[in-house]
Amino acid sequence: MTSKELFNRMGMDIRTCELTKQYRVAENTYPVLKGVSCEIKKGEVTIIQGPSGCGKTTFLNMLGGIDVPDQGEVRVGEFTPQTTETDLSRYRLYDVGFVFQSYNLIPGLSALDNLQLPMTVAGRKHSERVERAHALLQLVGMHEKASKKPDELSGGEQQRVAVAIALVNDPPLILADEPTGNLDSKNGMIVADLLCSLAHDYEKTVVIATHDPSVGSKGDQILQMRDGLIVADGRGWNH
Ligand SMILES: Nc1ncnc2c1ncn2[C@@H]1O[C@H](COP(=O)(O)OP(=O)(O)OP(=O)(O)O)[C@@H](O)[C@H]1O
Ligand SMILES: [Mg+2]
Repeated sequence: MTSKELFNRMGMDIRTCELTKQYRVAENTYPVLKGVSCEIKKGEVTIIQGPSGCGKTTFLNMLGGIDVPDQGEVRVGEFTPQTTETDLSRYRLYDVGFVFQSYNLIPGLSALDNLQLPMTVAGRKHSERVERAHALLQLVGMHEKASKKPDELSGGEQQRVAVAIALVNDPPLILADEPTGNLDSKNGMIVADLLCSLAHDYEKTVVIATHDPSVGSKGDQILQMRDGLIVADGRGWNH
C-alpha cells in the first residue's frame, strides 16, 4: 500500500457561525466562546493562537464534535454534525482524527496494535487492518519500531504514532491541540511537518491550536483568539 493509496477522503471546508458556549460552575456562568465565526479551508493548515484560557481547546472541541455549542452552528461541507448524538458519534469516529498534547497511547499495546484498535472498532477486516497500520507507521517514519510499546518510545516517537492513529480511518479532518507541547524543537518540527503534509499533500483539513510560534509559522491561515472571540484572521507566511 503506497502513501497515496492510504488516503481516499479529501478534506472538507468548515464554517462556524456565531458559536457560543458558557460553563456553569456552582451558581456562576462563565462565557467561554462569545460568538465565534470563521471559515477553514480544506488543503490548508489553520492555526489557532491566543493566550491560555482564551477558548482554543473549547473551540477545537466544537469543531471535532467532542462538545456542542449552546448556540450557533458548525458546518462541515454540507453537513451539520451536531444534529443528533448518533451523527456526532459517527462524525467523531469516521470524520475526525484527533492529536493531543499527551499522546494517549494504550500502555500495554505495541505501536502496531495501538493503530489497529480504532480500526477494529470501525469494523475493518484483520488483513486490511494490518496492511494499513504498517503503511501508516511507514508514513510517520515509525515502521522499524512497530513492535515497541509506548514506554519503549521517546515522546516524539509516541506522538508520531499518535498522528498515525489519528489517520487510521482516513478522516477528512485532523484536529490537533498543542501537538508539540511536550516535545523538543526538533521532534516538534517533525510532528508539525507531518501534520502540514496531510493538508498540502493529501488535501485534508488540518486545524492546530498551538502556543508554539514555529508551528504557527507553518500555517496557511492564522486565527487569533482573545477572550472567547476570534480577533484577527490572517494569511500565514507562505501567502
Ligand atoms: N468543563 C469546563 N468547565 C468549566 N470551565 C471550563 C471547562 N472547560 C474549560 N473551561 C474554562 O473555559 C476557559 C477556556 O478554556 P480552554 O481550555 O478552551 O482554553 P485554551 O485557550 O485552550 O487554554 P490553554 O492555552 O491553556 O490550553 C478557561 O477559563 C477554562 O477554565
Ligand atoms: Mg487548550
